[in-house]
Amino acid sequence: MTVLAVSDLTKRYRRGGKPFAAVEAVSFEIGQAQTLALAGPSGSGKSTIARLVLRLLEPDAGRIEFEGADFLALSGAALRARRAKLQMVFQDPLAAFNPRATVARVLDDPLRIHGIASHTERPHRIAALLERVGLDAGLAQRAIHEISGGQRQRVAIARAIATRPSLIVLDEAVSALDVSVRGRILELLLDLQSQERIAYLFISHDLGVIRAVAHRVVILDAGRIVESGDARAVIADPQSAIGKALVAATPRLNRNRP
Ligand SMILES: Nc1ncnc2c1ncn2[C@@H]1O[C@H](COP(=O)(O)OP(=O)(O)OP(=O)(O)O)[C@@H](O)[C@H]1O
Ligand SMILES: [Mg+2]
Repeated sequence: MTVLAVSDLTKRYRRGGKPFAAVEAVSFEIGQAQTLALAGPSGSGKSTIARLVLRLLEPDAGRIEFEGADFLALSGAALRARRAKLQMVFQDPLAAFNPRATVARVLDDPLRIHGIASHTERPHRIAALLERVGLDAGLAQRAIHEISGGQRQRVAIARAIATRPSLIVLDEAVSALDVSVRGRILELLLDLQSQERIAYLFISHDLGVIRAVAHRVVILDAGRIVESGDARAVIADPQSAIGKALVAATPRLNRNRP
């Protein structure tokens, strides 16, 4: 089943008075419980695609179908309901959350806003979510700025799964973490995907990470797709100049584990 189908997505900005396309005629699909990675050099349009898919930005052209519905045509209550199924995790959870908010508060918001659990049920749901992402329930009363970066990213994942999404957009979600923490977060993401059947749009500049988690990869350059296919096959034998350059810049790829 296709969860997300993007076709001919285009977003233009102006630079020095002239229009330029940050994203140009980009098309891809993601199936249930599948991970599609977006790779490409800095400025190639990865985050712009993420923001378009999340409807944080409106495209100049193109179509976004989410769970079979025309996502760009939704508004009001229908959009809010569908949005619960489309969550995000960004690189820096300190910027995404109020750093003084408690962990409990951050997890309570989606449960309350989307009417997922009653007031009395919510503390139990929060404890269960924390446990699900490998955190102690006692962390609930700590403030976001009082926990480690790895713990914060687990809270961000717990928040994202609170609404039982079918797709999570992860934009450089593990890039700021040190290698051992990153490995454990990637394992958590893989585990959640197999248990909950969640699809991921996984943005990373790190092909080693992409090879470890993605089924397919799309390589972008200057807003356009230059290459796409099975992640391991593309990384093992890239055909595009940009793909070759990205592989060459990732020496860890020569080892078996990322
Ligand atoms: N609001 C904006 N106004 C004008 N130009 C923008 C805006 N947002 C992004 N751009 C430009 O669009 C292009 C794509 O940016 P984007 O952030 O999508 O790249 P990226 O692939 O995510 O890069 P990185 O790997 O550095 O995160 C860049 O040239 C960027 O400067
Ligand atoms: Mg980016």
